[in-house]
Amino acid sequence: MDFFLDENGFLTSNHINFKNFSIHPLWLRERLSSENYLDQNNYQRLYEPSLLDPDIKFLKYVIEDNFLKIEFTDNSKGIFSIESLINALYSNDIIPEKKPWKNDFNTLPIYDFRSLNDDKYFSKLLSNFQELGFVIVNNTSTEEGTVIKFAEMFGPIRTTNFGKHFDVVSKPKANDLAYTSLGIKAHTDNPYRKPMPGIQILHCISNEAKGGDSSLVDGFAVAEYLKVNEPEMYEVLTTTNVLFKFVDKDIILENYGKLIELDHNNKYLQSRFSGRLDYVPYAEPLHLEKFYAARKKLYHLYESEEFELNFRLDSGMLMMFDNMRVLHGRTEYNVNTGFRHLQGCYIDHDSTEGKLRRLKSSL
Ligand SMILES: [Fe+2]
Repeated sequence: MDFFLDENGFLTSNHINFKNFSIHPLWLRERLSSENYLDQNNYQRLYEPSLLDPDIKFLKYVIEDNFLKIEFTDNSKGIFSIESLINALYSNDIIPEKKPWKNDFNTLPIYDFRSLNDDKYFSKLLSNFQELGFVIVNNTSTEEGTVIKFAEMFGPIRTTNFGKHFDVVSKPKANDLAYTSLGIKAHTDNPYRKPMPGIQILHCISNEAKGGDSSLVDGFAVAEYLKVNEPEMYEVLTTTNVLFKFVDKDIILENYGKLIELDHNNKYLQSRFSGRLDYVPYAEPLHLEKFYAARKKLYHLYESEEFELNFRLDSGMLMMFDNMRVLHGRTEYNVNTGFRHLQGCYIDHDSTEGKLRRLKSSL
């Protein structure tokens, strides 16, 4: 692979992997990683890169055995593997891409809690979670507090005004419909918070009552479906800001967001859906007509046989899902036929992504 300096003194290559890239000397200089430049315990820079010579140039470079050895005009030098250079140039991440799914699994992503101390197995669970936005774990325990212990395998708990964890059990004068025996259609939790909780874990202590089955829907898959099949509805849903609101005697929480939120590249970012809590702000009636039709379509897709996955969470099982992508719900249950008790908590995306990067880097 041939590198050469172009007329500006930038390092370029005619190799296919480096096509269109020309490398500024400072970009590579501030990536030098030996002990002179980085603390070898925490990999943090030992100098201020803003104070490097802005006119720095490449002095020498040589390619040997898939490594680039390089020297700069400020007498610094270093070595880069071509692979690491390609990863840096393309901003490659080891986090797997999302894979949209429908209700047509041959096998569900169910993992055995007793094997999670095996790093490879744990890493597989985390990769699967990134792809699908959910995993199910069995053989945990039926003890209270299991959800906290499980969550802390990934990172810190996101405490809310419901506490460090919440008990999903039917109770009188509940401050959320989750704490009744009513059926709850597919929704994302807490869209009224800033930011929304990233990941939810729900652990089943007991599910003896008739009813109370669980459902999950991939908001990403539904968004992709609408983009192709109902582009006008997709447009309305990705551009109309909606108010979400939670009210109880202690606090009023409010936040705005789109039912399907896109990033600055117009790629899917997240879903929000909670028919119990949403209020579209004032808009022209003709725009609202379009919005209400699109929301209705979205609702029916979320509850459709094509997209909604249904299963039963039995005692000792838990499910972990990306609350910004995968919607969850449950069927109504009859409190007179048996006890139903789930415990839930939230963690941040940092926890699962960070753990996966750590595991993949060490394996
Ligand atoms: Fe919920």
